[in-house]
Amino acid sequence: MAETNRQLKLQSRPQGLLAPGDLQLAAAPLPSLADGQALARVKYLSIDPTMRVWMATDTYLPAVAIGEVMRAFGFAEVVESRHKEFKKGNKVVGLTGLQDYCVIDADKRGSFQKTPSIPFLSDTAFLGVLGVTGITAYFGMMDIAKPQKGETLVVSEAAGATGSIAGQIGKIHGCRVVGIAGGAEKCKWLTDDLGFDAAVDYKQPDWKEKLAAATPKGVDIDYENVGGEIMHEVLHRMNLHGRVVLCGLISGYTKEDPALESFATILRKRLRVQGLIILDYAPKFMEAATQLGKWKMFGKLKDRETIVEGLDKAPDAINMLFTGGNIGKTIVKV
Ligand SMILES: NC(=O)c1ccc[n+]([C@@H]2O[C@H](COP(=O)([O-])OP(=O)(O)OC[C@H]3O[C@@H](n4cnc5c(N)ncnc54)[C@H](OP(=O)(O)O)[C@@H]3O)[C@@H](O)[C@H]2O)c1
Repeated sequence: MAETNRQLKLQSRPQGLLAPGDLQLAAAPLPSLADGQALARVKYLSIDPTMRVWMATDTYLPAVAIGEVMRAFGFAEVVESRHKEFKKGNKVVGLTGLQDYCVIDADKRGSFQKTPSIPFLSDTAFLGVLGVTGITAYFGMMDIAKPQKGETLVVSEAAGATGSIAGQIGKIHGCRVVGIAGGAEKCKWLTDDLGFDAAVDYKQPDWKEKLAAATPKGVDIDYENVGGEIMHEVLHRMNLHGRVVLCGLISGYTKEDPALESFATILRKRLRVQGLIILDYAPKFMEAATQLGKWKMFGKLKDRETIVEGLDKAPDAINMLFTGGNIGKTIVKV
């Protein structure tokens, strides 16, 4: 075991994309364990757009304090334990932070969960398709969108970790699924591999016409991950009594977004819009993971990962989410 714990700490709140030095690498001694604690080696880190929000301001969780280890979900293996429930060798997921080692504390019940060993699942699946992003897509679709056969579902940020699963759940339920993503490669993945009915490249000048052509009967469900101009355009194509899963607004995470007038459309068309914070579903995670696992096992769900090597590359991996460099779930291999 290493003697030091490399940690990425928040040094300054980013303006726009992360600049060098916003997150700084430092080495701390390995913590010594008290009764009720376990030490886990972080193997993989989940790279999520919300990390940029956590760096900036208080939201559904308090902002990460300056000088604090950057908050992140991760996959880790217990290497030493004085904790009743977590034994050496157990694999866990939870808020590990951007660091080599994390402490699991008996006082903070539920903040780490053991992962089962399932032959056809990689460890990283517990950060992606069966992790926070897959489970978010599951509850957004099953609890809020309630997809019906023959309905049209539009998913923005469709080639990301959440959107790619949300769209496939729509297909499983017989929807016409249209994904919006940046670039030909992502669009081709959506239609050719994931079975989306159409994909619209929002980086092309005629994307609004393409969206209209792909949704001839209007839109019944908007699985919204982006906000701004994309949300504005999709909302204007909504049918009466459609459902909007307001899952994320990534277009506003690195800049101010004044495009909120679109909410007037929600009112006029009597759309049911529901916000989604995945933490509310914590007691039902296992239900979602079981169903997602079955769909994956029977080939109904495909997932893809962009793996970036090295803890020191985590800031670049975060920026990649805002410049479109990833496909599927983004993970840092520590
Ligand atoms: N509510 C919740 O509890 C919850 C939980 C998890 C995630 N989320 C939200 O779900 C959304 C998706 O997260 P994720 O982890 O699935 O994403 P992701 O895999 O990290 O994908 C990021 C992608 O977003 C796209 N993007 C970035 N900036 C954009 C912009 N200005 N306009 C359009 N697209 C942009 C890029 O793809 P392109 O190349 O296609 O542009 C990029 O590859 C985020 O908004 C996130 O905050 C919410």
